[in-house]
Amino acid sequence: MLFFLILTISSSVTESVTFEITHQWSYINFTWESSIVYAEAIKSRQYIPEHVAMTGIKFYRSRWYIALPKFRPGVPVTLAYISANESQTNPLLTPYPDWKSNTDPTCEGVKAVQSFEIDRNGVLWVLDGFRLTPATTCPTKLICYDLKTHRRIRSFTFPKTIGLRRGGFFNDIVVDDSGYVYITDASFIDPGLIVFSVRENRAWKFRDGSMFPQMRAANFVVDDMVFTQLGTINGIALTPRGRNPRMLLYCSLVGFSVFGISTEILKREDLLSSGDWRANVTYLGDKQAQGDGMAMDELGNLYYGLLPLYGVGKWKVLGGIPPEILYQNRSTMIWPDSFAFDNQGYTYVLADSIHKFADSNVRLVLNDKIQFRIFKFFTGTKSYLF
Ligand SMILES: *[C@@H]1O[C@H](CO)[C@@H](O)[C@H](O)[C@H]1NC(C)=O
Ligand SMILES: *[C@@H]1O[C@H](CO)[C@@H](O)[C@H](O)[C@H]1NC(C)=O
Ligand SMILES: *[C@@H]1O[C@H](CO)[C@@H](O)[C@H](O)[C@H]1NC(C)=O
Ligand SMILES: *[C@@H]1O[C@H](CO)[C@@H](O)[C@H](O)[C@H]1NC(C)=O
Repeated sequence: MLFFLILTISSSVTESVTFEITHQWSYINFTWESSIVYAEAIKSRQYIPEHVAMTGIKFYRSRWYIALPKFRPGVPVTLAYISANESQTNPLLTPYPDWKSNTDPTCEGVKAVQSFEIDRNGVLWVLDGFRLTPATTCPTKLICYDLKTHRRIRSFTFPKTIGLRRGGFFNDIVVDDSGYVYITDASFIDPGLIVFSVRENRAWKFRDGSMFPQMRAANFVVDDMVFTQLGTINGIALTPRGRNPRMLLYCSLVGFSVFGISTEILKREDLLSSGDWRANVTYLGDKQAQGDGMAMDELGNLYYGLLPLYGVGKWKVLGGIPPEILYQNRSTMIWPDSFAFDNQGYTYVLADSIHKFADSNVRLVLNDKIQFRIFKFFTGTKSYLF
């Protein structure tokens, strides 16, 4: 009886977190250069409004930066932004850094982006590595923009042996300010964890069974659809600074388990010549459900989506405290995906219905039904970067 009472009290504390919608879209449209350009894009089907999806969001200096991968034809822009003060419903996106870079027919342009990170210095690290569809077969790239000057300051092209031009799926990225970035490649063909050394301007890839789907987690239901794809390594998070060595956390989309590996191991390409590094892969525990994106704050709290539970979880993974559910909403929290932090103590999550865009059997229609929502909730913390 007493035990039951304690449980009830602790779960009501959990439910006190308020989630508020800051922006939402039924479809995505842009600030076109002219009505002629817009009319031409509609006519040629270079722009099919109901096909455009957003998956990655990050906040920087009163702007939302947004990634628009190319699951379907008719997505004219892959990287964009809005001002945070824009209207709540269906604000128009502006291509970033500009239209030219987003429509450049050569492989120099920004081709297809699933996600990105913004570091402490205002550098935007763009993962141009969505290669699941025929939208592009250009090599996978890591492109950096300085958000203070809006100049491109780096472009690294991955070799085919790391990022497949057909079948690569660079999914998410974290930045380690000791000079490395870590990337999940959710490819169905060659999933793995990619390390990029800023100083050496080189990349290498770790591949392990923990980065594969867990069959016991397959075929879960979201919004009356069975998700049958066997998604691989996807969510990624990095423990906060000042706690050395830092640990890199990851999970498969189809899976419950969260795994960790020391960044001291990841920084050493030479360890790839034997399989001994795999002994460092640590099982940290199971989440309440399958999830897509995740993120860690400066205190080591992990936030993650709970896809079939229409919820958001919180877990101090290395703190010995069991995971909790912060919020659930069957009608609005459809596929919680990308997390972001501002510098006012708020954390954000984008719910993006991406399972509908990823399944080519689903016919998408242009109507008023909301497909994308950015939620805001108070945590009082900043991201792992700070
Ligand atoms: C898209 O935005 C343009 C303005 O940039 C507007 O003229 C056009 O009607 C919009 N299209 C849709 C489908 O909302
Ligand atoms: C939003 O803020 C920008 C400056 O940051 C300003 O130029 C713009 O007019 C504002 N828009 C609205 C709708 O208030
Ligand atoms: C992983 O490697 C780090 C750094 O070398 C080490 O501190 C840690 O004990 C290792 N963990 C396991 C489980 O091997
Ligand atoms: C879920 O969201 C809807 C729409 O915003 C709202 O009316 C409802 O109260 C929410 N439910 C919960 C449990 O928060």
